Amino acid sequence: MPGRREKLEHDDTNLLLPNQRAIIKPKKRRSKCCIACIWISSILGGLAAIVLLMYIGHLIFEIIINKRGDNGKTISGVSTDLLGRFNLYEQYAAASYCSVNNGNSTGSKIRCTAGNCPLVEQADTQSVMEFQHSLNTDVTGFVAVDNTNKLVVISFRGTDSDQNIITDTNLTRVNADLCPNCLVHQGFWESWIEARDNITASLNDTKKSNPTYEVIVTGHSLGGAIATLCAAEIRKGGMKASLYTFGSPRLGDTHLSTFITAQGSNYRLTHANDIVPNLPPLVFPNLDVHTGFAGFAYVHISPEYHIKTGNDVVVTVKDIDELSGEVNFGGNTGTLLPSIGAHKWYFGNITAC
Ligand SMILES: *[C@@H]1O[C@H](CO)[C@@H](O)[C@H](O)[C@H]1NC(C)=O
Ligand SMILES: *[C@@H]1O[C@H](CO)[C@@H](O)[C@H](O)[C@H]1NC(C)=O
Ligand SMILES: *[C@@H]1O[C@H](CO)[C@@H](O)[C@H](O)[C@H]1NC(C)=O
Ligand SMILES: *[C@@H]1O[C@H](CO)[C@@H](O)[C@H](O)[C@H]1NC(C)=O
Ligand SMILES: *[C@@H]1O[C@H](CO)[C@@H](O)[C@H](O)[C@H]1NC(C)=O
Repeated sequence: MPGRREKLEHDDTNLLLPNQRAIIKPKKRRSKCCIACIWISSILGGLAAIVLLMYIGHLIFEIIINKRGDNGKTISGVSTDLLGRFNLYEQYAAASYCSVNNGNSTGSKIRCTAGNCPLVEQADTQSVMEFQHSLNTDVTGFVAVDNTNKLVVISFRGTDSDQNIITDTNLTRVNADLCPNCLVHQGFWESWIEARDNITASLNDTKKSNPTYEVIVTGHSLGGAIATLCAAEIRKGGMKASLYTFGSPRLGDTHLSTFITAQGSNYRLTHANDIVPNLPPLVFPNLDVHTGFAGFAYVHISPEYHIKTGNDVVVTVKDIDELSGEVNFGGNTGTLLPSIGAHKWYFGNITAC
């Protein structure tokens, strides 16, 4: 059929005067252009439909979860003491983006070349172990002692290299030997496994010479996810450790979340509509061959401390809500129109180095 139509059109043009043919030709080109238009508009339409379906799915999940009562309670505001700790540990997370702390400067002070860790720079600190450029995942960060605040700090950097991006997108879940039936994001788990031996050896030594110091594990973004696995394993080994994460993505299933949440001393901070804690999205169901729908493939640890204010704004005690539950739409998970800008601001420009 198309062949015949083309032939007819060709024959028709022979019946026209030359100037009329000139009018017909652009028409043909316009129809080719329109095919492209149809392609583009159907792709855009398809994308819009997917976004709409995800949004509807989001709302349905919200209704189901609220009905099931998993949507835990919300406490408005935090203490001045807790706000102070959030500020300090955010700056330790920021410091792991500064290459001066991650390479070969073991023994030196923790510094931020972008000027975004003044509280850390005011303290008497010393870098104990630094790591980067690991073969598989490029897991990066440092172990340091802080003699002013009496801390041993382990800080993990967020995504900053192509290898980190490959790690982030390794969405398959693997069985972690952390807890029974725990399924963990493969990329985050491999990152921790690569760093594990050097970090625990360094931590064991440092803790031996500073037995009264509190162990703090921190990180932003990908670094927050690795920090969570690190803290979980250290505590399982019998050492106390507090976890402070900033804009961490979801890192595993409900078994993992329940295990880490039950350990306590978890402070998972999110900021406004930061996109990263909404990833991987809730739309992936956890389908169990025996029971069918067994929750979501990826959920968060609890509680969440949600900063409600915007970018480049000093955070005060009343700007933070504490929310419980592995899925809670009262905080970051319930925000629409996710933002990358909100990911880069916590108590300062956290990725500035
Ligand atoms: C430390 O690393 C920097 C770059 O990262 C390099 O230029 C310098 O030579 C290294 N120093 C030592 C002593 O290895
Ligand atoms: C662990 O430390 C050793 C000795 O410093 C080093 O050669 C190795 O690359 C480190 N491993 C990782 C994954 O950073
Ligand atoms: C990604 O996943 C594959 C298996 O699917 C694994 O072999 C590989 O090591 C992973 N890579 C990283 C960087 O995590
Ligand atoms: C550090 O100490 C823990 C708990 O005692 C132990 O399980 C782990 O093997 C030690 N790690 C290293 C590398 O020595
Ligand atoms: C944070 O970064 C933004 C954008 O680069 C900049 O405009 C702002 O002044 C920075 N804020 C602080 C407190 O450094």
